[in-house]
Amino acid sequence: MNIVFLGGGNMATALIGGMIERGFEAGDIHVIELDAAARERLQARFGVRALAAPDDETRNADVLVLAVKPQQMQTALVPFAGTLRHTLVISIAAGLRLADIGRWLGGAGAPHTRLVRCMPNTPALVGAGVTGMYAAPAVDTTGLETADRILAAVGSTVWVDDEARLDAVTGISGSGPAYVFHFIEALEAAGRAQGFSAADARRLALNTVLGAARLASASDDPPAVLREKVTSKGGTTAAALAQLAAAGWYDALIGAVAAATARSRELGEQFGQDRT
Ligand SMILES: NC(=O)c1ccc[n+]([C@@H]2O[C@H](COP(=O)([O-])OP(=O)(O)OC[C@H]3O[C@@H](n4cnc5c(N)ncnc54)[C@H](OP(=O)(O)O)[C@@H]3O)[C@@H](O)[C@H]2O)c1
Repeated sequence: MNIVFLGGGNMATALIGGMIERGFEAGDIHVIELDAAARERLQARFGVRALAAPDDETRNADVLVLAVKPQQMQTALVPFAGTLRHTLVISIAAGLRLADIGRWLGGAGAPHTRLVRCMPNTPALVGAGVTGMYAAPAVDTTGLETADRILAAVGSTVWVDDEARLDAVTGISGSGPAYVFHFIEALEAAGRAQGFSAADARRLALNTVLGAARLASASDDPPAVLREKVTSKGGTTAAALAQLAAAGWYDALIGAVAAATARSRELGEQFGQDRT
């Protein structure tokens, strides 16, 4: 299977690394990347073929993974416009809608329809991402499986049956790492306020989040039950949780996700506008 990445930046590098670890053949992977230094890096690190512009082989790929920034996409797709037939196109560009990508790929002809849209998150860079995925109706079971196998190389996948739900995926897991980083920052600041050195405060905060996430992931109990298990009546955790509840942090987080979801919807409108 011939797999072409358009854009060889951070996310493409993470995906290619994960794919090769999981048994994809380096010889099947091609990367179109403008930057010569990035091309050399990809070739040296993974043994994939990296080129500056599409050639005949890459125009007839089985799979084309769109991994340039959303604002670069329309221009980057110009060399492919009207050329694709059976190619499964997988976009990882945040916010860009399939209708716009299909139209740009179609050029003067009919829009391309074998399209999958994904919303990965930054932990994908260390193989621990979660990706929301949506497939257009023209994608068959083989296409769904191929897209899932590629994104599963950098973490887990969650399929949605309505493209609009990817805005909510953006609000939850796309922007989510920032909420968790912010939580770590606050726990770290609390540690410093209690007299710990910056290094120890960070170690305590970071490993608490890492350990709690691993425990929640390994346990059959839902997080609410795990929380109850460490909260004895009148104890220390109960005192802390009462303070958090009084500050309204739970509802604040739900509101934050709603704000990110609404912003994702707005950005989708802007990104989809033709620039050329
Ligand atoms: N990073 C993340 O964690 C993350 C999470 C979710 C979604 N995404 C999505 O993933 C996509 C890639 O993000 P990234 O962080 O990997 O970006 P990135 O590191 O900037 O990678 C994009 C690469 O594509 C190159 N490029 C631009 N125009 C091109 C063209 N016409 N032909 C070939 N290559 C071209 C860029 O070169 P120049 O630098 O020279 O422009 C750059 O090396 C984005 O659409 C983003 O929304 C990323």
